[in-house]
Amino acid sequence: MELTGQEEAMARGERGEPARLAMQILVKIGEACGAARMVETKRCHAMTSMAPELHQARIDLLEKFVSLDGRYHVPTTLDPASLDLKRWREFKVPAGYAAKAKKLLELNDRLGAIPNYSCVPYQQGLGPRFGEVVSLTESSYVVYANSVLGARANREAQGIVISASITGRVPLYGLRLKENRIGSVLVKFAGIDPGPFKTIDYATIGYYLGARLGHEIPVIDGFKQSVTADQLKIMGASAACKGCVAMYHAVGVTPEATTREEAFAGEKPKETIEIDPNVLKQTREQISTSSGGKLDAVLVGCPHYSIHEIRRLSELLNGKKIHRKVKFFVYTNQETKLLADTMGATRTIESAGAFVSVGTCMTLSPVRYWGFDRIMTDSPKCAYTTPVDIGAEVVFGSIEQCVEAAVRGGA
Ligand code: F3S
Repeated sequence: MELTGQEEAMARGERGEPARLAMQILVKIGEACGAARMVETKRCHAMTSMAPELHQARIDLLEKFVSLDGRYHVPTTLDPASLDLKRWREFKVPAGYAAKAKKLLELNDRLGAIPNYSCVPYQQGLGPRFGEVVSLTESSYVVYANSVLGARANREAQGIVISASITGRVPLYGLRLKENRIGSVLVKFAGIDPGPFKTIDYATIGYYLGARLGHEIPVIDGFKQSVTADQLKIMGASAACKGCVAMYHAVGVTPEATTREEAFAGEKPKETIEIDPNVLKQTREQISTSSGGKLDAVLVGCPHYSIHEIRRLSELLNGKKIHRKVKFFVYTNQETKLLADTMGATRTIESAGAFVSVGTCMTLSPVRYWGFDRIMTDSPKCAYTTPVDIGAEVVFGSIEQCVEAAVRGGA
C-alpha cells in the first residue's frame, strides 16, 4: 500500500505506540483487501458488547489500547451495551456478566467514545452525511449508511474500527470505491403493488433479499416515496443479517438511484428477480420457527425503535393489559426514551405491562437467563438470532399482531 508521509510516520511509531499498532492493523487489512492507499475518516462506530464468551477478547483488545494511553481521535459512537444501562438488575443479569459488560463500557469511555449505546446513531443526530467515509461495526448501520444516507462504509470488525478511530485513516477498498457501489441485481414486483406495503412487508423483503442475494447489491424498482426511514431501516437490517447485504438501491428513493440507469451505472443487471405475493407469504412463514401457541415474551426494537415506532406502540397498547404470563420488552436508546417520557408514551407502554429498556437489546443482553421457550417479535433480525442466542422458538408478526398476542397470551 502507498502511505502518505503522515501515515508512514504513524507506522514508524512517531505518533505514539497506539497509532503505530493501529496503523499496523490497518495496513494488514488494506493489503488483504487490495487497497492501494488509505483515506481519511471522521466518524466511527464500535461495538461494546458481544456474546459472553467473546467478552474477554474484546476487553483484552480495548485494554491493550488503554494501557498504551490510546484515544479515539475520531468521534466514535457505540452499539448497544450488554445490559440495560440503569435497570439491568431487573433483567436477571448475573453479577459476573454485568461486571464484564460494565468493564467494556468503562474501557470505551477511557478511550473517549460517545456513549450513545445504540445501533441507530443516525436517528440520534449522530449519523454521517452523503459521501462521508466512515468505519462502522454494526451491519444494520452499515447498510443504512451506504444505502439511505449515501455514506461510504464497509462491514468492518472491531479491531479495524478502533484502529480507524485512533489514526483517522481507513484503507480504501470495498464500498468506499464508487465503482463497487453499482447495483448488480434488479428486484421487481409482480402481481403486487408496493404502494400499500406495511412495515412487516419491508422487513420480509429484506430477509428474502438477504437469503437470496448474499453479497450482491440489489436495485429495488417499485417502492413509493411514502416508504419511511424506519421501514428502510428494518428492511436493510433484515437483509444484512440473513445475508451479507451491505448496500441496496431503491429507485427514486435512495440517493444513488434517482433512476434505474443510475443505480446500474448504465450497465445491465446480471440477474432479475421478482417478488410476488407467494414469495412474501413463504418468506414470512420461513422467518418464524413456530406456528404459534403460548407465548413467554414479546421482544421488539431491533433495530432500536425510533420515536415514531414507540409512539405507534403506545397507541396500540393504550388502555390494554398485557397477559400476566407474557414479558414485553421494548428496546431503544436514551434520546428516544427521553422523548417518549416527555410525550407520555413510556407511561402508556409501561402501564400496559411492557418494559422500555435503554441502551441494550434482545441479542446483546443475556435474555437467555429468563428461560423463554417461545417468543414473538416484529423483527426478522431478532427472529434469526434468537433461536441461537436464547434457544427459544420464534413467531414473527407485525407490531399489531405482537400486541394482540401479548394481550391474549399466545400467538
Ligand atoms: Fe440493533 Fe441489537 Fe438488533 S444492535 S439491529 S437491536 S440485534
